Amino acid sequence: MPEFPAARGNLKADVLIVGGGIAGLLTAYELQKSGVSCIVAERKRICGGITGRTTAKVTFQHGLIYQKILREYGAEKAKMYLEANQNALKKIAALSKKFDCELQKLDSYIYSRGNRAALENEIGALARIGFAAEFCEKTELPITTVGAVRFKNQAQFEPLKFLRGVVNEMSDSVHIFEHTHIIEISGKTALSKRAKIAADKIVIATHFPFINTHGSYFLKLYQSRSNVIALANAPDIHGMYMDENTNGLSFRNYGGYLLIGGKAHKTGEPCRRKELELFAENIYPDLPIEYAWGAQDCISLDGIPYIGNYSALTPDMYVAAGFNKWGMTNSMAAAEILRDKILGKPNPYAAVFDPSRSILKKQLWINGFNAVKTLLTPTVPRCPHMGCALKWNAEERSWDCPCHGSRFTKDGKLLDNPSNVDLDKP
Ligand code: FES
Repeated sequence: MPEFPAARGNLKADVLIVGGGIAGLLTAYELQKSGVSCIVAERKRICGGITGRTTAKVTFQHGLIYQKILREYGAEKAKMYLEANQNALKKIAALSKKFDCELQKLDSYIYSRGNRAALENEIGALARIGFAAEFCEKTELPITTVGAVRFKNQAQFEPLKFLRGVVNEMSDSVHIFEHTHIIEISGKTALSKRAKIAADKIVIATHFPFINTHGSYFLKLYQSRSNVIALANAPDIHGMYMDENTNGLSFRNYGGYLLIGGKAHKTGEPCRRKELELFAENIYPDLPIEYAWGAQDCISLDGIPYIGNYSALTPDMYVAAGFNKWGMTNSMAAAEILRDKILGKPNPYAAVFDPSRSILKKQLWINGFNAVKTLLTPTVPRCPHMGCALKWNAEERSWDCPCHGSRFTKDGKLLDNPSNVDLDKP
C-alpha cells in the first residue's frame, strides 16, 4: 500500500473519517466524487487491520441472513439488505475493472452438513423477496454435505490490490494520514498526539466504535475470532463455500492455495487454530500448510451491520460497524449510505442498517451477562476499555478481552480496539 505521513498541527476538512480500513477508504472515495473534502486518520497503516486479513468473498450471500431478517423485520427490510449488497457487488466488480486486483467471478455456496431444512428455508425466504437461488445436491468440497444453496456470479478478489487502486485514484480533496491515533473527539474536533482536526462531520470506521458515551456499541457488539490456513498445491474447488453452521468452515482458492477458515470463537476464549490444522491434515494429508493467521469480526445483535448516525444524539457523527464477517459488500453499502446521509440525500437502503433500531434481542442479554461475569472476575491484567479481566491467548501470544475483543501484545501494546490505549502493566 502507498505510505502516508502522520497528521500534525491544526487541520480542517468537511469530513473526518477515523479508520483507514475498507469501510473508511470507500467512504472517502464516495465523498470526494461529490466534491467533499475528507481527512482519513488511521492509527497504524491503512488496511493494516482486519481488511488485510479477510478472505475477501465479494458476495451478497451472507450465511442464512435472509430468513433471519424476514423473520425479524419482514420482507421489505430483507429486500433492502439484499439490494444494498447486490448493488455493492456490482459496484465493486465495475471498479475492479480499473485495477489489477485479481477479481474472479464465481459462484458462492452455503452448505450444510446436516440441516437441509435450513438451506431450503433460505431458498424460500429468497424467493419471497424476488431472488432465485438454487439448491445443489452435491458440492466440490472434500467433506460430506446434505447440499448447498448456490448464488451465481459472485466474486473473490485481492482486497489490498483493490484498495490500492481506490487510494491511488482519489482526488486531492482527500488527505490520508497514517500513524495518527485519534484519542479524543470533542464536538466537531478530534485530537491525536500531534494534531487537532476540525470537521463538520465525523465518521467512525474503526472496526469497533470506540466512543462509549453514545450509541451503546459496547452492548450492541461482541467480537468473534476466526482462523485461516493456506494449503499449498491445492485442488481448485470452483467456488466460495461457507457452512451454514457458524461453528463450521469456509473455503476459497487463491492461486494454487486453498484457504480454509473457521473454528471461530468469541475473542477471549481459547484459540482453535490447532483444530483447523488437524482437520486439514486429515483431509489433505499431502498438502503443506504454508500460512496461518487470525482475524476478528464485530458481530451485531441481529446479524445486520450498524451504518448511519452514531446515535440519535450525535447528528454530525456517523458509524459503520458490525459487518458480521461480511465486510466486503457491506463496506461498499456503508460508503454509499454514509455519503448520502452526509450529503443530505435519501438512501433507499439506510433504514435496514439504522444503528438506532431496537436492541431488545436475545444477544443483548448474552453480551450483558458475559460482560458482568468478566468484570467481576478478580484477575489481572484488566482491559483499559471498560475494566474487564484479560485472558492470555497462548497460541497467538496476546492478551485478549472477552468483553468486547480488545487485544494487546505480550508487552501490552494495543493490537485490536475498542481499547484506545496500551495496557499499563501487563
Ligand atoms: Fe471492552 Fe475490554 S474490550 S472491556
